[in-house]
Amino acid sequence: MRVITVSSLVGFLGLGCNSTTPNAPIATAAAPLAAAPGAAQAPEADPEAICTDETPLAPGVPGSPGHPIASIINPNGQSELASLMRTMLGDLKAARADIEAGRPVKPMRVVHHRIRCAWPTVMKDRDPPFDAMALSYLGGLSALEAAPPAAAKKVFNAALEGCRACHEKTCSSAMAAINGLPFPD
Ligand code: HEC
Repeated sequence: MRVITVSSLVGFLGLGCNSTTPNAPIATAAAPLAAAPGAAQAPEADPEAICTDETPLAPGVPGSPGHPIASIINPNGQSELASLMRTMLGDLKAARADIEAGRPVKPMRVVHHRIRCAWPTVMKDRDPPFDAMALSYLGGLSALEAAPPAAAKKVFNAALEGCRACHEKTCSSAMAAINGLPFPD
C-alpha cells in the first residue's frame, strides 16, 4: 500500500514527525483575538514581540490548515512548523560548518523564534510546555549567536540540547537528524 511505503520511507530517513495529514481543519485552533490598539505600529522595533505563544495563528498562510507546503519528504505537504523545523535543521548544519571553519555563525533566532507562532500539524502540540521548551531552545540559540569562537563548539552542543529536550517530548522521529549534529567532546 502506497501510504505504508511512504511512511516507512519517512521513518527510515528519520526526519518526519507526524504521519497525520497535515492541517486538516482543526476545531481547537486559537480563536482570533482583536488586535490591541496600536499593535500594528512599529513592528520593526522588536520582531519577536509579534510572535509569542499568544499570537493568534493567521488562517490561510502557507502551512496552515488546508494550505500545506509542498514537500519532497511528505507527499501530503507540511505544516508551517514542520517547514520551519527543516529550515532550523539546515541552519544548524550551516552553523556547524561555520564553527568548524572558525567563522561566526549567522543570526538564526530572528527566524527560529517563529516556532512560537507557527501552525503545527497537530494543534495540541502548541501548549504551554511546548512554549517553555521553545523559549529554552531560543535561549540556547542566543548564547550561540553571542559565543566567542573558542567556546562555540560547546555552546553549539548546548543549543542542540534545546532541540533534543523538546523532541524527547513531542516528536522523537527527528532525533536521528539532531543526534548527527553535536561536536565530539
Ligand atoms: C519547542 C519544541 C521543539 C524544538 C525546540 C525543536 N523542535 Fe523540531 N519539531 C517539533 C514539533 C512539534 C515537530 C512537528 C512539527 C509538525 O509536524 O508540525 C517538529 C518537527 C521537526 C522535524 C521534522 C519536520 C518534518 O518534516 O516533519 C525536524 C527535522 C526537526 N523538528 C528538527 C529540529 C531541530 C534540528 C531542532 C533544533 C535546532 C528542533 N527541531 C527543535 C518540536 C520542536
